[in-house]
Parts: sequence; C-alpha cells; structure tokens
Amino acid sequence: MARKLMHAVQYDRYGGGPAGLKHVEVPVPVPKKYEVLIKVEAASLNPVDWKMQKGMLRPIFPSKFPHIPETELTFGTDCFLLMVGAATDVAGEVVEVGNGVKNFKPGDKVVAYLSPFSGGGLAEFAVAKEKLTVPRPPQVSAADGAGLPVAGLTALQALAQSAGVKLDESGPRKNILITAASGGVGHYAVQLAKRGNTHVTATCGARNLDFVMGLGADEVVDYKTPDGAALKSPSGQKYDVAINCALSMPFSAFEPNLSPNGKVTDVNLSFGTVKTSALKKLTCSKKQMVPLILVPKGENLDYLVQLVKERKLKTIIDSKHPLSKAEDAWAKITDGHATGKIIVEP
Ligand SMILES: NC(=O)c1ccc[n+]([C@@H]2O[C@H](COP(=O)([O-])OP(=O)(O)OC[C@H]3O[C@@H](n4cnc5c(N)ncnc54)[C@H](OP(=O)(O)O)[C@@H]3O)[C@@H](O)[C@H]2O)c1
Repeated sequence: MARKLMHAVQYDRYGGGPAGLKHVEVPVPVPKKYEVLIKVEAASLNPVDWKMQKGMLRPIFPSKFPHIPETELTFGTDCFLLMVGAATDVAGEVVEVGNGVKNFKPGDKVVAYLSPFSGGGLAEFAVAKEKLTVPRPPQVSAADGAGLPVAGLTALQALAQSAGVKLDESGPRKNILITAASGGVGHYAVQLAKRGNTHVTATCGARNLDFVMGLGADEVVDYKTPDGAALKSPSGQKYDVAINCALSMPFSAFEPNLSPNGKVTDVNLSFGTVKTSALKKLTCSKKQMVPLILVPKGENLDYLVQLVKERKLKTIIDSKHPLSKAEDAWAKITDGHATGKIIVEP
C-alpha cells in the first residue's frame, strides 16, 4: 500500500548552503528491523550538518552521490529522486515500530540520534535505530531533548571519557579550559564539567560572558581580547585538560597554558589535529593532543535526558524555526554564532 506523503527538507549535491535545501513531499519512511518511526516534534542542527553539505566530510558523509536516504522516492521504474535528508538530532513521538523493537511502542515520547548516513531530521517523520532512541519524560520538552544528541553526547564524551572527569564530584580536581563555551557543545560541556571536581575557565564572545558564567564557569574570558586569544586564565590557572570546541586552534595556542601533563581534546577533527596527535605520541610528549570523534551511545543519551529531567542540565535555545523556513536555521548554524542550540519544528 502506498505510504502517506510528508514534508521534508533535503539536498542532492555538495554545496549550495541554505539555497541548496529543497522542500519536497516524500513518502513517510518505513521503519526496518530494530527501527522506530518518529513523528518529529523538534530537530536541532549542528555544524556537522552544513559541513556535510559543503563536502568537508567526503567521502564518508554522505557516502556517495547519488545517495539513497531513508526517504527515497521512486518515480516509475527507473527514475529516482535521490537526496540526503539533513539533520540527525530529533525528539518526537513513536508512531510505528519495525520488527524486533522491544523497548518502544506507538505513543512513546522519545529523543533520538539518526544515522548521519541518512539524516532525515528535517522532516515530519524520521526513522531511528532503537538503540539510539531513548524515552523522553514529560518534564523534557521536545526542543530541549532535540538539542542533546550530537552536542550533548560530544560534551559528555569529551569530559567523562577523554578528560576522565568523574561527573559525581569524586576524583582528583582538574583545571579545565572549554573554548567556544557559548555554542552547542560548549554550553553543555561547561554544565557537565561543573558536575565534576573541576575549575572551569571558558572562552566566548563579549556578548555571552554573563551567559557562560551563569552556566557555572568559574572564569570566563572574551576570545577577542589579547588574553582570551592567548587562552590565558584570568587567575593564572594551568589547564589539565583543554576541550577545544572552537575552529582553527593549533596546539601551539594551548601549549603555554597546559599543566606539565596537560592534554587538549579537540572536537574539531582536522588533518592538523591528527598530525599533531601522532607527533606528540611519537615523541612521547607529556603534553598531548587528542582528536575526538563522537561515538554515540544510547545509555549516554539516556543519562543526559535524565539530567535535563532533574533540572541538572539545561538546553539553551538560540532560536526556533518552522520547518517551512529551515533555510533560516541552516544559515544560522552555518554562520557559527549560535548561543546554544538552533531548533527546527515541523
Ligand atoms: N568530532 C565530533 O564528533 C564533533 C561533534 C560535535 C561537534 N563537533 C564540532 O565542534 C565544533 C563546535 O560545535 P558547536 O555545535 O558547539 O558549534 P556552534 O554551536 O556553532 O558554536 C558557535 C559558538 O562558538 C563561539 N565561538 C566561535 N569561535 C570561537 C572562538 N574562537 N572562541 C570562543 N568562542 C567561539 C561563537 O561565539 P560568537 O558568536 O561570539 O563568535 C558561538 O557562540 C564544530 O566545529 C563542530 O563541527 C565535532
């Protein structure tokens, strides 16, 4: 039987920015084995979305063009509309489940991380793997939940795994630097870091100094001042860990401010980061550079949702945009000046 059509926003080639997005009517996707179909209530955008569209992650994401996403639409026998569905972070309600799904049923409110190979978050409905879908209690709004997957999981991985911060205040005290603390990853990272035994120095623009202080940072510095550009802590702290969420920051910018065994965890994966990381290892340098690649885990997403439910973690919303104006949201994430998360609502 033919599936109902839905409104979706997709792109079918590299480049083009917001103007490269297309509003289309495509069949509601069918959940396969171990997948759930979600009626999307909110999606959030991340820099990786525009980077993928620009071709900065080729040949991995999208894996090939033409790429066949979950929302593939077939015309006749040999004509395909082949597009990438943008965005991976969604919150909504389960409306259908595929074979083998055990933990969800229609009517359940959820947060999910969609496969970056298919995306599909900028749509009325999206399919998600059961293992990367978690329940969303009534205390967590769709927008607050949708902010969490990429940005929240990255912040958590950087702190708990890479920096080794225990988020229950046990463990040795660590001095932490978080750059771009006003952004999606950074604003979660500051809040999570302060759940551990830490002193947090954060960088952001002048307009966000009070905002970042309000997230719990111990010291905040404007990245456009000489001291901010030099990543100096106002109180002269040396950092045990620097979590870099800002673009284009070489290791040399961090090195003078690191403690003798200090480490930079760089969430901006680049050739330079990988090269520096390898060199530091080869030369047995005490100061290390570690590139971070998000490995999304359902249990971690569940942990973040619980923190939001318990009011121990906030999603700060930069702006909300209707799906019909997804281009505005896309332009904003591409611009790189969001304070918190950019949300799109069908
Ligand atoms: N490796 C991974 O798996 C992974 C996962 C998630 C994210 N990432 C990457 O991590 C980066 C951060 O992501 P995001 O979602 O947090 O980005 P975002 O929300 O777009 O960050 C925007 C914020 O960064 C601030 N900012 C920009 N440059 C700055 C600088 N030099 N110093 C201090 N603040 C600065 C901006 O402040 P102003 O407006 O005042 O300039 C703005 O508030 C992106 O490059 C993203 O692709 C990687």
